[in-house]
Amino acid sequence: MRLKNKVAMITGAASGIGQATAELFAEEGASVAVVDVDVERGEATARNISEHGGQARFVRADIARGADCAQAVSETLQAYGTVDILVNNAAAFVLKGFGATPEDWQLSFGVNVVGSAMITRYAVAHMKQKGGAIVNLSSISGFVAQPDFFVYSATKAALLQMTRNMAMDLGPYRIRVNSVCPGTIITPASLRHMEKVGLTLEQFDAQEGAKTFLGRAGRPREVAYAILFLASDEASYITGAALMVDGGYTAQ
Ligand SMILES: NC(=O)c1ccc[n+]([C@@H]2O[C@H](COP(=O)([O-])OP(=O)(O)OC[C@H]3O[C@@H](n4cnc5c(N)ncnc54)[C@H](O)[C@@H]3O)[C@@H](O)[C@H]2O)c1
Repeated sequence: MRLKNKVAMITGAASGIGQATAELFAEEGASVAVVDVDVERGEATARNISEHGGQARFVRADIARGADCAQAVSETLQAYGTVDILVNNAAAFVLKGFGATPEDWQLSFGVNVVGSAMITRYAVAHMKQKGGAIVNLSSISGFVAQPDFFVYSATKAALLQMTRNMAMDLGPYRIRVNSVCPGTIITPASLRHMEKVGLTLEQFDAQEGAKTFLGRAGRPREVAYAILFLASDEASYITGAALMVDGGYTAQ
């Protein structure tokens, strides 16, 4: 077990990549705080992990609210006594360009960047005592241009730089900070996008797969394994890095 006796907070763990990561971390021995704004799906995720013999509890938080971030960390500390790992995975998918309003920009940055920074702030206050690992979910969208998408992409690029700066600031405390950058992954978020643009799952998988070397879109667990590696002690000399999990999309 690669995360035995570790406590992990995972934001956005009620769905998609976050949910797969929570399940994998629990299988690897971690006690998991399933942090999400979606109560029903968050509780279901935690319950499902418990039913399979893992340790998990749902912690409700809207990470765009600073008070919720502080509360989520203190609830996790109360339940498990410590925090070793934080995965900043929750995101608002504001997939817009010039049509975006100031409110769209605020939602996009408020959740993806400010929300991740705030929950990190409160978690780090505790993690500084004994070190740990933080993994931020960026995206290929932080590297490459995609049409009519920049309100989302700008947040993912911001997370890349935030990762490097935080890695520098937290190195002296033995806290490593890295990014994972998925390509297109089949999750509820991408299924919503697929419906919006009028494609079937098969068509979407083929269209997105054609942009990769592997000829297909990714699956949540394939990203979860990369997050697990960076969160585990196996990555003990890796910090400030960005790991692409994109089937080769950005390598061409
Ligand atoms: N799916 C992809 O193709 C893809 C590609 C690249 C990067 N990513 C990144 O991976 C991460 C997960 O994406 P996904 O596809 O699994 O998404 P998803 O929509 O399936 O899950 C996101 C979760 O975040 C939660 N959430 C949203 N706003 C929140 C808030 N304010 N506070 C707390 N929780 C909140 C949602 O309730 C949901 O459970 C995101 O950071 C996303 O940008 C996804």
